[in-house]
Amino acid sequence: MGGVRDAVAALRAAGCTVAFVPTMGALHEGHLTLVRRARAIADAVVVSIFVNPLQFGAGEDLDRYPRTLDSDLGALAREGADLVFAPTADEMYPYGAVETNVTAGHVGTLYEGASRPGHFDGMLTVVAKLFHIVRPDIAVFGQKDAQQVFLVRRMVADLNVPLAIEIVPTVREPDGLAMSSRNRYLDADGRRTALALSEALAAAGAAAGDGLDEVLAEAAGAFGDHDGIELDYLVVVDPTTFLPVDDGATGRATVLVAARVGGTRLIDNADIELG
Ligand code: PAF
Repeated sequence: MGGVRDAVAALRAAGCTVAFVPTMGALHEGHLTLVRRARAIADAVVVSIFVNPLQFGAGEDLDRYPRTLDSDLGALAREGADLVFAPTADEMYPYGAVETNVTAGHVGTLYEGASRPGHFDGMLTVVAKLFHIVRPDIAVFGQKDAQQVFLVRRMVADLNVPLAIEIVPTVREPDGLAMSSRNRYLDADGRRTALALSEALAAAGAAAGDGLDEVLAEAAGAFGDHDGIELDYLVVVDPTTFLPVDDGATGRATVLVAARVGGTRLIDNADIELG
């Protein structure tokens, strides 16, 4: 803990600005795009790798979450990351359970938060801890986790955390599937079925000019084309409040979708312009 703090302090003393990319490892091209963005906007890049138990609920995939530290370190070395912080759970939570945590407000109970109670409290708590440990100038997140991005931005604003947030667009496979560490759980059939999410978002975008009802109907239709997928939620939100838009809303909106393919929960989102 002191090691990473001292190393960042030394970078700062040398006049470097520091960008920080928090991850849970199992790095893919989406993460590496965050690292490249961090390199482009700061002098030094710090990446954390920590599978945070606090943001997994009972019965979720904490135990089987992919852990690929050696290949992650190799990829980060190739990308020129200056520092990798990969603490153990005991280092991050020396007292075991936390006595104090960050609690997401109402938005944290919706969508992902409704399906994964406590997830966002655990996520914000570890992000706050990582911010305090690393003390970056800029923290870089992926738009793929849109609700996480909204809540981290709000935490930073609500608690006057002294850093800037940089958001990087979702990186997709050539066929449209959003990159995710959880894609590794999918077999070939599941991988094909998972395309329902990006197809739903494309359908939503195509129908955006026709208003909310049409967007929801067209997007839901994409799920009818696939077997073996269970839609969790499909919702259109105002990106400034993250609350569902009203009937008749126009302008920029964000479509959020989550679904379960076999035992794998996947999320995706896209901005649309409601007409
Ligand atoms: O997006 C993630 O990988 C995690 O939620 C984060 C931000 C690293 C916190 O554990």
